[in-house]
Amino acid sequence: MFLIGHLSDPHLDGTEVARQRLRRVVDYLKAFSRPVDVVLVTGDLADHGLAAEYAEIAAELALDVPVLMLPGNHDVSAPLRAGLPIESPGEGHPVHQVRDVGPARFVLLDTSVPGEDHGLLSAESLKWLAAVLDEPVDGPLFVAFHHPPNELRHPVLDQWILQDAEPFAAVLRGRPITALLTGHVHNGVSTTFAGHPLLVAPGIRSTAPLPFEPAAANGLVDVEAPPGLALHLAAEGQPLVTIYRTLPTTA
Ligand SMILES: [Fe+2]
Ligand SMILES: [Fe+2]
Repeated sequence: MFLIGHLSDPHLDGTEVARQRLRRVVDYLKAFSRPVDVVLVTGDLADHGLAAEYAEIAAELALDVPVLMLPGNHDVSAPLRAGLPIESPGEGHPVHQVRDVGPARFVLLDTSVPGEDHGLLSAESLKWLAAVLDEPVDGPLFVAFHHPPNELRHPVLDQWILQDAEPFAAVLRGRPITALLTGHVHNGVSTTFAGHPLLVAPGIRSTAPLPFEPAAANGLVDVEAPPGLALHLAAEGQPLVTIYRTLPTTA
């Protein structure tokens, strides 16, 4: 079994409340009797893209297992590259990575657009992705990025999803991808894209209720909703199993 702890959107900003919400998730993982094989964090690591925020992320996610991180719309390429263990060719934007952990390959895409909240992949990025996906892989293959292309039927969130998704779908279609793993919409979501499972981790910093939910009366995000994460279990010859957990305060 290969076990992924999938975290998203910690939005660390130097405040104790943000730090404690991330710590709740990390402490939960640290208590496992069988450690996760990898921790994946799908963006909005920092809230303002500041060097001090990346120093905080690096300190909070200094774990005994590999930690893979990719940028979201709140992240900024240069300080992210300088402050985190990123393995991406070139410099500046975008920050694409290919990371192998045990039997699994993770293609980590940067869907952010500097200064914007929505996501977009350039033709150059899609060309890079196609070349990476042409490489043969034996184990599970995950493509992870921040902005899902799927609408949630939410008037605000749907403005900020991945735009111009069809060329991206064309690159992904028919490939031996185990799952697409994303964040950004601050909801645990299970859907599909380009014929593959698309699994969104909950937002650690907050939850964005759908307009018809009671919590929506309080605004775009519910900062009182408990943080959560996704656990993905991959076993050879078996379909991927995903379990969503929320971690209410026990104090
Ligand atoms: Fe976010
Ligand atoms: Fe985001």
